[in-house]
Amino acid sequence: MSKIRLGIIGGGGDSLIGVVHRIASQMFDKYEIIGGVFNANWEKNFDFAKTIGLSSDRIYKDCENLIDEELKLPEDKRMEVISILTPNFLHFPMAKKLIQNGFNIICEKPLTTTYEEALELEVLQKEKETVFAVTYTYTGYPMVRQMKDMIRRGVLGTIQKVDLQYYQGWINPVIHNPQERSKVWRLDPKKSGLSCCIGDIGTHAFNMLEYLTGMEVKKLLADLNYMYKDNPLDVDGTILIRMSEYCKGVIRASQIATAEENNFTVQIYGSEGSLKWRQENPNELIHLTENLPMQVLKPGNNYLSEFSLDSSKIPPGHPEGIFDSMGNIYNGVAKALRNKEFDEGAFPNLKGGVRGMLFIEKVIASNNKGNIWVEL
Ligand SMILES: NC(=O)c1ccc[n+]([C@@H]2O[C@H](COP(=O)([O-])OP(=O)(O)OC[C@H]3O[C@@H](n4cnc5c(N)ncnc54)[C@H](O)[C@@H]3O)[C@@H](O)[C@H]2O)c1
Repeated sequence: MSKIRLGIIGGGGDSLIGVVHRIASQMFDKYEIIGGVFNANWEKNFDFAKTIGLSSDRIYKDCENLIDEELKLPEDKRMEVISILTPNFLHFPMAKKLIQNGFNIICEKPLTTTYEEALELEVLQKEKETVFAVTYTYTGYPMVRQMKDMIRRGVLGTIQKVDLQYYQGWINPVIHNPQERSKVWRLDPKKSGLSCCIGDIGTHAFNMLEYLTGMEVKKLLADLNYMYKDNPLDVDGTILIRMSEYCKGVIRASQIATAEENNFTVQIYGSEGSLKWRQENPNELIHLTENLPMQVLKPGNNYLSEFSLDSSKIPPGHPEGIFDSMGNIYNGVAKALRNKEFDEGAFPNLKGGVRGMLFIEKVIASNNKGNIWVEL
């Protein structure tokens, strides 16, 4: 099988997420990075592309230039899929033009800056029948996939309580100083969109919940914290959620939880048992069952589901992390691009990206209307 020709926009040497995608794409030997646009500044873009060994004729000035030049190439040379790894406000205009021109897309979250834009992408993607993944990275972990499988096989019984917490502390040192604050694109509505904390990390928790349970959040009530009157975007929020009359819970997200690193914790409670997983210790999944001792499940063991085992590359006891998790998502996309069979959870899809945008808008609406219940 020939390697999938991958283009990248954003994710340059100065970025946080670029290296994760580059390494992830190489993990199963299914992709070759052949070009892209890594920075809006031409010199920085070119220098970085050269550093990672790309040919000068596949380094482009911007997204439009990439599309124009790639379309001139025969189909068997052209990029097959493009990863969009820029700040949020560029996802929509880039993804829109790329789908219109028939490219498959792997896009960072949050999908767009508004729900309306997300719906527009959904319509276009249906028309063009392209593959579209939205990289909610944590869905790629073997033990997250084990959770999904156990829940869909009914191991937990009926889900009755959900509690997802995503706490970081990195905004605390900047939030109290307006000058420092102004340097952070995630706090700038023009670049970030409607929300900072909920769009950046609350949306991971929301996606994880719907990904794992296969259920939808139907109603929510949000209480956000902006910390200062002149700070335009949220840095913390607590959101009550209802998935059905008898399945309720909470999503808590914060970027001012002082000194927390990336404390994303998922707790799902059912009538027959419960599952607990922490991103900072991703190789342990805790399974609680009444009247039995706690079980700790670990990746790569024969007692796990086929879906989970398919997401581990090495024998038990060799820790896997965020790169592996993203690698599993790229592997899932590769299966879709090569028309191979794949599990519906093999990669987070466009529907999840669109639901994510609806979630962000409803959270802001609930908070702005005085912390009221709103329907999704
Ligand atoms: N899935 C995850 O867990 C995860 C984690 C971090 C970031 N993200 C998402 O990834 C995206 C990028 O975040 P980041 O933290 O890497 O941002 P960053 O600011 O660290 O990097 C952004 C990159 O985009 C490049 N860029 C900016 N404008 C560009 C343009 N016009 N053309 C080409 N390249 C351009 C910059 O040069 C830089 O390399 C955001 O949407 C963010 O929400 C997702």
